[in-house]
Amino acid sequence: MLSNSELILAIESSCDDTAAAVLRGRKVLSNCIANQTIHKAYGGVVPELASRAHQSKIIPVVHQALAQANIDKNDLTAIAYTQGPGLLGSLLVGSAFAKSFALSLELPLIPINHMQGHLLVHFIEEEGIQTPKFPFLGVTVSGGHTQLVLVKNHFEMEVLGTTLDDAIGEAFDKCGKRMGLDYPSGTQIDKLAKEGNPYKFQFPIPNMKGYDVSYSGVKTAFTNFIHKQSSKNKSFISDNLNDLCASLQYTLVQIILNKIEEVVKAYELNQIVIGGGVAANSELRNQLAARAESEQWQVFLPPLKYTTDNAAMIGIAAYFKLQNQEFGSLSDASLSRLNY
Ligand code: KG4
Ligand code: ZN
Repeated sequence: MLSNSELILAIESSCDDTAAAVLRGRKVLSNCIANQTIHKAYGGVVPELASRAHQSKIIPVVHQALAQANIDKNDLTAIAYTQGPGLLGSLLVGSAFAKSFALSLELPLIPINHMQGHLLVHFIEEEGIQTPKFPFLGVTVSGGHTQLVLVKNHFEMEVLGTTLDDAIGEAFDKCGKRMGLDYPSGTQIDKLAKEGNPYKFQFPIPNMKGYDVSYSGVKTAFTNFIHKQSSKNKSFISDNLNDLCASLQYTLVQIILNKIEEVVKAYELNQIVIGGGVAANSELRNQLAARAESEQWQVFLPPLKYTTDNAAMIGIAAYFKLQNQEFGSLSDASLSRLNY
């Protein structure tokens, strides 16, 4: 077992956020993110633009992370980076940087699975973060993922259910786009929904066998509904915006909650760990808090800075790999698809 003084520099570049963090042991010394605003104009992430933006942002972000942590690059113990899953062009920028930096500093490399990182943030040592006990149910809800994962230990994770089409955040964003909202729309829908009636409009909740979920049916039903109503009344969307947002949000959250309930019962789990940007959603949070009361669930919701894509999550996963002396090599390939 190593001491808690190792310093890890972690790089995350799997999608449209360029991020770097420094950890000493399980403590986060810095957690820096450069968001790419360029995608807003296109209503979604444009992969080519994302990799270009990573190229220009990665060096400043790493500098910032080292400076904020107040450490010199020569004091580092290891360099961690996201190996996958994600957009290949984006991953390559992070891995190429991490490899060159490790090579020049003669440091070991630690490739990390992004999804494992999302679920391991709960092991960061920090006020406000509670650490679950194994096994627990990990739920990742973001623009890119919707997964229900049985977490047996730090690196043994089994996907029990996943989305068969769109991710939950993607459904928020695409439906938001249909209503003329800015990308990404999750936060706006959440805000507008607070003034709306969640039962005003009904959208179908798919009845899926097993623990998989599907979001494209709701998206299509929602799109068809607003098109039809708008053809009768041009201002239908603006007249009903709050109720549309509340009803849509209620349905999207209900879909994942139903599956969480099924899995928790079948696997006799009572700890639910949430990761991903949609963890910020107030309806999801309220519903989980209600279940925590009624079903005796223990729900783990880390601070938002650790639920959305960030590099501290890569750093904490690397910390556990470092404990096992599990290192990668310069020839490791970035993988757009990567299982647990
Ligand atoms: O984890 P994240 O920052 O990036 C990835 O997609 O991996 O998640 C972003 C997603 C977007 O789809 C965004 O609309 C959604 O999280 N989101 C929300 C809320 N805040 C962010 N969705 C619903 N309610 C929110 N409050
Ligand atoms: Zn993610």
